[in-house]
Amino acid sequence: MSESTGQPTPYEKVVGKAFTESIPLNAQIEITYRCNHLCTFCYNSPTGQREMTTPQIFEALRKISDFGVLYLTLTGGEALCHKDFFKIAEEVRRLGMALRIYTNGYLLADRKIVKKVKALKPFEIEITVHGGRAETHDQLTRIKGSFEKTVAGLRNLVDEGLKVNLKCPITTLNKDELFEIKELADSLGAYITFDPVITPKDDGSQDPLALRADEEFFKKYWAEHYAKLHGGRLPPRTNHCAGGGEANCGTGRSGFTVDPYGNILPCVAFRRQVANILEIESLGEVWKSSEVLTEVRDLAVEARTRLDERPDGAFFQFCLGVAETQLGDPLAVYPQAEINAGAIKKVYEVIRIADLKGRKSA
Ligand SMILES: C[S@@+](CC[C@H](N)C(=O)[O-])C[C@H]1O[C@@H](n2cnc3c(N)ncnc32)[C@H](O)[C@@H]1O
Ligand code: SF4
Repeated sequence: MSESTGQPTPYEKVVGKAFTESIPLNAQIEITYRCNHLCTFCYNSPTGQREMTTPQIFEALRKISDFGVLYLTLTGGEALCHKDFFKIAEEVRRLGMALRIYTNGYLLADRKIVKKVKALKPFEIEITVHGGRAETHDQLTRIKGSFEKTVAGLRNLVDEGLKVNLKCPITTLNKDELFEIKELADSLGAYITFDPVITPKDDGSQDPLALRADEEFFKKYWAEHYAKLHGGRLPPRTNHCAGGGEANCGTGRSGFTVDPYGNILPCVAFRRQVANILEIESLGEVWKSSEVLTEVRDLAVEARTRLDERPDGAFFQFCLGVAETQLGDPLAVYPQAEINAGAIKKVYEVIRIADLKGRKSA
């Protein structure tokens, strides 16, 4: 919103229109499943198929750019582990798309690599940290010394004046260090997002869920920690990609993901195969005619409709992909979403009661 008029900014209007008309402005390519970390809970599930070659990734990028995508995220696996990472990233920029990089930051401890990243003029770089202390981060990545490298990488990026965002999935191992992690982000002048949901693996394995923090923790997280960790802000009430429309989220609508084999997916979490990007003429045609996408978009609307029927529905951040991998049904409410919604609803009730009391005594 514009601070002076209280109206949506021109940029917000474009994003809103794109959402309503299902024009994807964002795309992600998982350029490889290779990785230099061994995170215990990683959702990636390589199948052993041959990954796209560099020329094939170029072909995918051309189709994505022809389709009109503005923001292209390179991720993985660990994108920087791809032997041709810089060639691919340069092609993204040559095609005129804004470049985002999702990385564990390990290789950015090398200043020479950071200089090459800077030369790409990336729009932003998102780095994952798993702890405020080396032992916690390294326990999650299962790579000794990874915290030191990632923090060095962060400092190198900041020294080069690059825009860095941090993110941290909340786990049983780091839940008591969130403030230390926030201090680290503050010391770098970087924004940090804590992710309250640990998802199953893409192949359906539920193993990562063993690392979920418990309900007691999340009640406290939403009631007390969230505002302190986020500059006094209130917890979010809907998915960040919901676009304010009738759909629960932007899956199959505001963006899409391409996996290392070229499969187009409605989003990184909802991994139903739409088509293979190497086998299609243009994305425009697939985007219009795909039955998978039509079903996914309808499901996202149905999810919102069903949530709206619940007393806590207005407080749900719900992911159809997690519901599908966790419960076999994209519309089934999984425990973490319900726990979060209940705790967030309480936060808003407490504020409403405090407001009412304030008004009565005024
Ligand atoms: C698959 S990684 C790829 C990018 C890069 N290698 C990294 O770790 O930042 C993308 C993000 O997903 C997070 N992630 C991986 N497995 C997860 C899971 N089961 N639940 C929640 N987040 C997960 C990672 O911590 C990271 O922030
Ligand atoms: S660094 Fe990223 S891709 Fe690699 S194992 Fe960890 S979460 Fe998975």
